Amino acid sequence: MNETELIERAHQAAQHAYAPYSGFAVGAALLTGDGEVFTGCNIENGSYGATCCAERTAFFKAVSEGIYDFDAIAIVGGKEDDFSKPCPPCGICRQVMAEFCRGDFKIVLQGEDGLPQIQPLSALLPLSFSL
Ligand code: THU
Repeated sequence: MNETELIERAHQAAQHAYAPYSGFAVGAALLTGDGEVFTGCNIENGSYGATCCAERTAFFKAVSEGIYDFDAIAIVGGKEDDFSKPCPPCGICRQVMAEFCRGDFKIVLQGEDGLPQIQPLSALLPLSFSL
């Protein structure tokens, strides 16, 4: 599975976004060390703080099935079907990634040119907190 294919899986996941409050759909595709893909979408709630981001949906699906070995995540997002801008992960999702992933875990965004932009977790969350 290459980065472009992983982004395509994220776009498919975004189709399931439940985002009646923000109108902002997000899709994520999480690649495991075994080459399996867990997808996720954002799931909003009328009590806004109960909303779950697409990335965390994907991680929690995988971890709840006993999977803890991850290589990369692709993320896309946008309003009204406009996915033309990169959609970097929020701070809470970066912290969840830090819980389960090494610093070289790859975060794959879709650049404005449509091409994959790849950055390691260590660049997006340096000096991360851990117990
Ligand atoms: N959202 C995500 O799914 N992932 C992020 O990393 C940032 C934000 C969602 C949450 C909410 O449903 C919508 O985007 C607007 O904040």
